[in-house]
Amino acid sequence: MKTQRDRFSGKIGYVLAVAGSAVGLGNIWRFPYLAAKYGGGMFLLVYLILMLTFGYALIVSETALGRMTQKSPIGAFLTFGKSRGHRFGGWINAIIPMLIVPYYSVIGGWVLKYLFEYLRGNVQELAADSYFTGFTSSATEMELWFLLFAVLVFAVIFAGVKKGVEMISKIMMPLLVVLAVIVAIYSVTRPGAMAGVKYFLIPDLENFSWMTVVAAMGQMFYSLSIAMGILYTYGSYMKKDIDIEASTKQVELFDTGIAVLAGLMVIPAVFAFSGGDAAALQAGPSLMFITLPKVFASMGFGTGAGILFFLLVLFAALTSAISLMESCVSTFVDQTGWSRRRSTGVMVVVMVVLGSASALGFNILGFVRIFGMSILDFFDFLTNSVMMPIAALATCALILKVVGLSNIAKEVQISSAFKRRNMYNFCMKYIAPVFLVIILLSSIANVLGWITM
Ligand code: PHE
Repeated sequence: MKTQRDRFSGKIGYVLAVAGSAVGLGNIWRFPYLAAKYGGGMFLLVYLILMLTFGYALIVSETALGRMTQKSPIGAFLTFGKSRGHRFGGWINAIIPMLIVPYYSVIGGWVLKYLFEYLRGNVQELAADSYFTGFTSSATEMELWFLLFAVLVFAVIFAGVKKGVEMISKIMMPLLVVLAVIVAIYSVTRPGAMAGVKYFLIPDLENFSWMTVVAAMGQMFYSLSIAMGILYTYGSYMKKDIDIEASTKQVELFDTGIAVLAGLMVIPAVFAFSGGDAAALQAGPSLMFITLPKVFASMGFGTGAGILFFLLVLFAALTSAISLMESCVSTFVDQTGWSRRRSTGVMVVVMVVLGSASALGFNILGFVRIFGMSILDFFDFLTNSVMMPIAALATCALILKVVGLSNIAKEVQISSAFKRRNMYNFCMKYIAPVFLVIILLSSIANVLGWITM
């Protein structure tokens, strides 16, 4: 039985909604700390190359498959065959968002907490070195803010695709760009910040390592919402007359623009406020939450800036979390025939169980270590470095072995000239499979301690 799928109203609605999914904590929180840690300008360069070739090809593939089949990933894979391979390919794409959205919401909770503290005017307290660890070590606080963020996500989900995602994206995205530019300009013009600008923008071969490539690759999946079923689902909501090629370019431009802006907000500030100390660059997930409060505390209007900034990040995180959740709910609705309400209910359980585990991993479950990682880090690693390369491989295999590159081209050409068709074919045939296998094996070997990168 075919029921009418919800649809995006047009190109702008589509691009904004996909950009809303793509632009999120990945750009603002994750990108700067990875760039700081894995080589600055070198990381940026590798990231850009991967995004323009590989990332582009995968976005086009997933969107085209979604629009062709009118299904989210599981249905899309099963449209072309019912074998185990098809089942596996669909499910791995569909399960990834279910594993990401809980820990994503934990970090969304951190953002809410910081926003709340700025609203109370605690600008100096937040800038203290120990503030962040003090916060994460409190089980009640971590759980509370995680749950609050989760409630916001579910509230939007209940409103339905069009009304919820599209409306919110349309208001939030332009606002986000303006706010990011303001904070970046302030950060870059601090005394001593220039060294940071150079570190971030100018590639230096000395800073290159294999980890630069592995991290950039995982970040590209994460940031562009590739290899997690999201783009299948959004493609299935897309009308046939929307130009896949042009909208992919716009989404990439937007997503990378915000990531670079975020880099300019955070990395120069590390130099201005910690004297470019190498240890400060290695801070990891806490980088944004430790560095930016120092910037704001130094500003004359620090409270206002802090409120604006964390509001911006909250918007970005919400649209992304909503798109993750939308994908999960849509999977259940399509596969089980459950109602939207019931499917959402199942996701509430998944969210609370896995999210609480990640939140409490910083305090009362702090003794739990999986391959040496905390629970949150483990979910991040498992999804980005292991499952996403496998999911992307499954998409490549489906296209190369079953659907055929020419059928993808046909779908894309319904609405675009597909000027980069040759590049697309080359990436899918040669680069993607080889590269994905290498990335996958090296990150597994790394975590098992067989190699150090
Ligand atoms: N791409 C989003 C970001 O950069 C995160 C995200 C991941 C969103 C997966 C949807 C799916 O934050």
